[in-house]
Amino acid sequence: MSPSSLALNSSTYATNNNKPQFPNSFSLSSSSSSTSLIDLGLYKKSTVKLKKKSNRKALECALHSPSVLDFPKQPYNQPLITKENTPKTIIPNKPRWNLIQKAAAMALNMFESALLSRELEHPLPKTSDPSIQIAGNFAPVPEQPVVHSLPVTGTIPDCVNGVYVRNGANPMFEPVSGHHLFDGDGMVHAVTINDGAASYACRFTETERLVQERGLGRAMFPKAIGELHGHSGIARLLLFYARSLCGIVDHRRGSGVANAGLVYFNGKLLAMSEDDLPYELQITPAGDLTTVGRYSFLDQLHSTMIAHPKIDPISGELFGLSYEVARPYLKYFHFSSDGKKSPDVEIRLEVPTMTHDFAITENFVVIPDHQVVFKLEEMIRGGSPVIFDGAKKSRFGVLPKYAKDASSIIWVESPDTFCFHLWNAWEELETDEIVVIGSCMTPPDSIFNESDENLKSVLSEIRLNLKTGESTRRSLVPDMNLEAGMVNRNRLGRKTRFAYLAFAEPWPKVSGFAKVDLESGEVKMHKYGDGKYGGEPFFLPTGGCENEDEGYIMAFVHDEERCISELQIVNAVDLKVEATVKLPSRVPYGFHGTFVEAKDLTLQYLG
Ligand SMILES: [Fe+2]
Repeated sequence: MSPSSLALNSSTYATNNNKPQFPNSFSLSSSSSSTSLIDLGLYKKSTVKLKKKSNRKALECALHSPSVLDFPKQPYNQPLITKENTPKTIIPNKPRWNLIQKAAAMALNMFESALLSRELEHPLPKTSDPSIQIAGNFAPVPEQPVVHSLPVTGTIPDCVNGVYVRNGANPMFEPVSGHHLFDGDGMVHAVTINDGAASYACRFTETERLVQERGLGRAMFPKAIGELHGHSGIARLLLFYARSLCGIVDHRRGSGVANAGLVYFNGKLLAMSEDDLPYELQITPAGDLTTVGRYSFLDQLHSTMIAHPKIDPISGELFGLSYEVARPYLKYFHFSSDGKKSPDVEIRLEVPTMTHDFAITENFVVIPDHQVVFKLEEMIRGGSPVIFDGAKKSRFGVLPKYAKDASSIIWVESPDTFCFHLWNAWEELETDEIVVIGSCMTPPDSIFNESDENLKSVLSEIRLNLKTGESTRRSLVPDMNLEAGMVNRNRLGRKTRFAYLAFAEPWPKVSGFAKVDLESGEVKMHKYGDGKYGGEPFFLPTGGCENEDEGYIMAFVHDEERCISELQIVNAVDLKVEATVKLPSRVPYGFHGTFVEAKDLTLQYLG
């Protein structure tokens, strides 16, 4: 989610091979707990508690939520936390500096204090104001060691066995200046389901950035969206590089937050944001999570990877993109099902462009080249470097999946089709068209920049004619904001009838999800109930080839009045709630998830 590639990407990547050892069999009978940083007393509670401000105002913006500055109270007692069960990796490593470094650190801290004082003289944009961006149930939570035997209402279907994992942004330290929702440290929430019983845990992804900042006792890496705008953004970049030069921080080991997407590929659970390499996680036999380390696909990937790689359901191959603010702006690559990477294919773009997502068909990749671009010179003019460029032509590129270079790419212009996410695409040979299903967002950059216009995200069918080079767009559900979601992943790249999408109203909250018939436009709704909100609905297919909608929707739902979080499991055929799992602690609204089948869990330890 967070385009930290603005300045912090490094071209040198290292792989952490310190893999923890686990038994090969899984058992849910044992109880495991460990210690959160706060409960250990390693960090003051104030480090993750937002300051109260006296002049609370109801503010409207693209990422508006109620201006509640306190963390909601936890309605459950925390489980007993013992130091013995604390993963070794969460013990902070205090940096050892020489005298020159100590002096430099002190001087740079003074510079930062002066910079902060200057920043606080002016009101923050709504898209950078932490009192808006991480208010209410967007606020972070401490880690939750695994809790077993959770209360279940209804019956979890027999065929649902495995682990539902969902990523999200969860700032480890209290923001002291600008902070955008996408800037938070990655935290993964996991519900393990085994023969109708459920357990839950959530853990920070131990990114290099998080590990360094924890050792330093505070945030020091720039926040790509919340901080890097205008002159103070330039000053923060200079400050960061001065600290790098002095050896106080090391961005060469990675600067990403790994907070956006999750994919399970070739026996690896990967947490991703588009500003870094993925991070490999492991789900322990007890249902807890650990971070193995930054994952370069065995030293094959030497650039960032976006958080929405695509796995072809037939071949098992993984397709990905990497974008940067420096040339080459965009690269395409893929991995065989056993993890062998193809050479990079450079996709030539005129300007560096945000490419959060793309699509695959049976034979092609579909790459958006739209109008949200990076213009670093905008910082000198005092603005955000992520902006909408109306003068740029919006288009999609269609490239054969196994192309050795981009000479065969067909570009099709497509005005007014900025999609932050694409849900699916397929080929219709009879009309020489590629059909793309996405949610077209207006204003296109309103997630990143203040706008007076209310954000709209309209589910649309975009047809790209490869013969004529023309495109059409048809709104499938014109009057609803439909955002995060998916189609049946076993049919990705093939014609699908149904899509399951978050009903993103009141934006940015999600009050339910829609099952949309892409052929007829019929919409069936599942609402979470008064005061209840969720996020991305995850569709777990359980049917064969015949029944596309046979499966279950899983979604974390939070009751804002009672401050209770739960996992809902909904039958995708009739939208009947099959089971509700009551969770032991609050689950903030987050981003994307996946489901790792029980039979696949042991693959994590094979190599
Ligand atoms: Fe996303």
